[in-house]
Amino acid sequence: MLPVVVVHGGAGHIPKDRAELSCAGVREAARGGYAVFKTGGSAMDAVVEAVTIMENNPAYNAGRGSVLNVKGGVEMDALVMDGRTLASGAVSAVRRVANPIQLARMVMEKTSHLCLTAEGASQFARAMGVPEVEEESLITDYSRMRWKKNLHPDANPVESQMGKMGTVGAVAVDAEGNVACATSTGGMINKMEGRVGDTPCVGCGGYADNQTGAVSPTGHGEAIMKVTLSRLILFHMEQGKSPEEASDMALTYMKERVSGLGGVVVVDPKGTWAARFSSLQMSWAAAQQGQLHYGLYHGEDFTEPI
Ligand code: GLY
Repeated sequence: MLPVVVVHGGAGHIPKDRAELSCAGVREAARGGYAVFKTGGSAMDAVVEAVTIMENNPAYNAGRGSVLNVKGGVEMDALVMDGRTLASGAVSAVRRVANPIQLARMVMEKTSHLCLTAEGASQFARAMGVPEVEEESLITDYSRMRWKKNLHPDANPVESQMGKMGTVGAVAVDAEGNVACATSTGGMINKMEGRVGDTPCVGCGGYADNQTGAVSPTGHGEAIMKVTLSRLILFHMEQGKSPEEASDMALTYMKERVSGLGGVVVVDPKGTWAARFSSLQMSWAAAQQGQLHYGLYHGEDFTEPI
């Protein structure tokens, strides 16, 4: 059963012309994360590698391809957590870095804090020698088109989020049974400047504990925060539920209690995994025992050799 990597490329309603890009990208990320194990990498190495691959892929709302805030800028959030020690690192509203997930890992490993935000996160990146990139290099024609469209006073605030909830995330268990999670996002389209979502908040945008498992979610951040979705799933697993049962219970609760849609990838320390969602779609892929599993719509589980 071990090791295993499971990734998602965001829950939502993915337009037809972008669905194949999203599916191909999660397969590439799961393969990339899984390959890390061959060279002795840990679960943390695997999730950071998988998320870095998706941040570099403009098909997703993370890193290059992030949605724009109301002023047309890119502000990103990211989180990592290590199930061995409960160590965690995050950045929020960070600008001009290509890979916020790597910066989040540096916060975990090089500071005594859990989260650095905005200009403080940028200062830390400079101190760590992380290159500052032009904001323009993170912006795609697609994200600018959607930003302009949603500035229109008649834009429907619910519809405007559809098709681009593409937060990315990964969970993994390594051969030693250590679990880890990583999540990265540009947030919600046309969000207020300074808005911070669920992603950098421990227990909301991810959680990892060797005693129970690891979770990375995607979906409407304000809803995820209200129900502390990641920790809620692990709570259900602590009560004896499987990753799949626990995910479905927590996603149903989020939908019924706060009208929130989303999705999750989950593992337990034995390598049992789940990719579940309450939205119409979620691109996901899992690599385990030489097989790649993937899907986009409910009920799908395609397989191919790695
Ligand atoms: N779940 C990503 C966000 O709402 O920012």
